[in-house]
Amino acid sequence: MCGIIGYTGQKRALPILLEGLRRLEYRGYDSAGVALVDRNGLSVTKAAGRIFVLEQLIDTQLPQTHGIGHTRWATHGAPTDVNAHPHVDATDRIALIHNGIIENNRALRTYLEQQGIEFRSETDTEVLVQLIAHFYDGDLEAAVRRALHDVTGTYGIAVVARDELGVIIAARKGSPLIVGVGKGEHLLASDPAAILAHTTQVVYLDDGEMARITPDELRLTTLDAVPVARGVEEVEWSLEQIELSGYDHFMLKEIFEQPEAIETCLRGRIDLTEGAVRLGGLVDCTRELTRAKRIILTACGTAWHAALVGEYLFEELVRIPTETEYASEFRYRNPIIDDGTVVIAVSQSGETADTLAALAEAKQRGALTLGVVNVVGSTVARESDEGVFLHVGPEIGVASTKAFTGQVAVLAMIACYLGRRKHMSPTAAMQFISALAQIPDQMRRFLKNAEQTEGIAEQYCNRENWLYLGRGYNYPVALEGALKLKEISYIHAEGLPAAEMKHGPIALITKGMPVVVIATAGVQYDKILNNIEEVRTRGGSVIAIATEGDKEIQSMAEHVVYVPDTIEPLQPLLTSIPLQLIAYHAAVKRGCNVDKPRNLAKSVTVE
Ligand code: AGP
Repeated sequence: MCGIIGYTGQKRALPILLEGLRRLEYRGYDSAGVALVDRNGLSVTKAAGRIFVLEQLIDTQLPQTHGIGHTRWATHGAPTDVNAHPHVDATDRIALIHNGIIENNRALRTYLEQQGIEFRSETDTEVLVQLIAHFYDGDLEAAVRRALHDVTGTYGIAVVARDELGVIIAARKGSPLIVGVGKGEHLLASDPAAILAHTTQVVYLDDGEMARITPDELRLTTLDAVPVARGVEEVEWSLEQIELSGYDHFMLKEIFEQPEAIETCLRGRIDLTEGAVRLGGLVDCTRELTRAKRIILTACGTAWHAALVGEYLFEELVRIPTETEYASEFRYRNPIIDDGTVVIAVSQSGETADTLAALAEAKQRGALTLGVVNVVGSTVARESDEGVFLHVGPEIGVASTKAFTGQVAVLAMIACYLGRRKHMSPTAAMQFISALAQIPDQMRRFLKNAEQTEGIAEQYCNRENWLYLGRGYNYPVALEGALKLKEISYIHAEGLPAAEMKHGPIALITKGMPVVVIATAGVQYDKILNNIEEVRTRGGSVIAIATEGDKEIQSMAEHVVYVPDTIEPLQPLLTSIPLQLIAYHAAVKRGCNVDKPRNLAKSVTVE
């Protein structure tokens, strides 16, 4: 979950590397470093801490036009100056940066130490640069290729050598890497956002591929030196989309972007005249999908919560048995996948290691695999048989917001698309699609008067335990609300199906404990009012998310946040937003780093 950047061309490399690292910081931010190369040799500067620590350390006028940079999320070796990347071999000829885990690092380290090589750090990564140097005889590409044959694990790497000016060798297995193509220059990055300021022309590396880049040449080969021909693709995101645009945090910007993001997500896909959904990405597998006997949704974190809403949607609209699986469990559970099983991998980044492995497991067992993904060109998108993109634009805040509602909107469209081909009547489909079409404006209306969420956060942000309760489609929203609060404000919170309270968690309730209850109109409205009563009689403070116009609930809750009315299956698209804002304001009031919460990273590319 680190960020990698590289530049070779005519311009000074350092400003480009530092800017790229700032844009990659959401991937990992506990230490950073750069290696620059010119006739005077290798110049490496690295330090524990955020990018600004590195910027204070380094001479920002350094002239080199060739270099690599890294921002780290530590897995092996604490975030210290010595363990920061780049790592340099014992003879100071080669520097390397790495995203991933070298699993057989201990065995390789023992072998290299027996060769008399002294190690400087505790990291798994240093083993790789020492191994490359061990095989190096003036051809960096060959030495990297040779070393990688002895390595097990995952990697996205970039390597430079003191004696090979202008050359960067890159390789990928399990961690994303793209090459940016410019005039007389090439860039390298873990993510398009890091190089968008310089080019929108990119080449995506696949697993098992290497790249040799110089200012004027890009050569792709497999690990076995077989040449690879790959076209240049255009990145659809604009630079403006990855800027803060006046907001204090990317998370707040992305919360307020949801109306437009969902509008873009729905555009050209819902037909209000025909009452139909059109999903180009599913056309080639529609027959197989409609014959499916079982659907498995697999994901991690917030994407798993969206997948759980998807389970409810598929069972109600398509009437097909559907399960939601944590990818990290599914991949090792010897899952039963037979003919007619469809596996849908849901992921914002499209690079989450557990989700990728679950997808590979499903493919290997013969399932039809779909990807519901935000990042175009990402590995889940390229590895799944078919799929649907969210088109909600880049999501930079580590806490996922617009990708959650984007994932729910896409799963809702897929469910209606298949439902229409199975049991859903044209009228029911038209009602569903009309309600979906109103969501962006309903989001806008709610966001116009959302200040109340700040007051609620102010009142309870010093309480260390919160509960979130929901029923039906809003049970996954309760889970999501709790996750948002946990990951950015570090308050312990638990989301539950409201009826589960009586089976234990109700014992947690103390006087004034904040309990968020999603109590919007629906078949279980009376039941949820009973759950509110249970909380109140134990002294809990109820923060109710209710449907506009519901007067009855006012007398039952300390706070009532109203959201516009919509059909139950689509309520998660509206009820999740006040929970995003409450978590956001609580984190700000507690002085937390909202966009870069501790111990987290935007895309979890290691197991
Ligand atoms: C959510 O706010 C978190 N960033 C995290 O739980 C995230 O949803 C999870 O890591 C899955 O990421 P993905 O959607 O990119 O696969």
